[in-house]
Amino acid sequence: MDKSEALALGLSAVLLLVFFVAIIYASTARGIDVPTCITDPDPFQRGQLIEHAEDRYEVQMIAQMWSFQPRRIEIPAGSQLDIYLRAADILHGFKIEGTNINMMAVPGSINYMQLTFDEPGTYPLICHEYCGVGHHNMRGEIVVTES
Ligand code: CUA
Repeated sequence: MDKSEALALGLSAVLLLVFFVAIIYASTARGIDVPTCITDPDPFQRGQLIEHAEDRYEVQMIAQMWSFQPRRIEIPAGSQLDIYLRAADILHGFKIEGTNINMMAVPGSINYMQLTFDEPGTYPLICHEYCGVGHHNMRGEIVVTES
């Protein structure tokens, strides 16, 4: 084996190790997660916020041209929010500013992520996937009130 081949191989192995450690660190120490895709033949038909407990909520969110349903939700600080997301028509984006929630609303499937909102405030909700002439109007908000 040539010396430069050995060097390239060694660097590749080191990079693989660095990336592997970065993934483990992100998922354990930083709590960074990827969305879960649920294939449901009978998805929810309307967007709504459901209270399961004082600090546990579920939102069934529908993305459609060109709005989110529900457009605004309000939960107390410290609440855990389970987010189920579906698209009623075409592909849309779903991002909650100031958090690591960033999903796609995909026709035919439901995406899921969970987050605990510790800080009170207003978290804008935007569609980040160009979805037609009304794309720029596709917004919403999550209001986290003092608990
Ligand atoms: Cu929906 Cu852009």
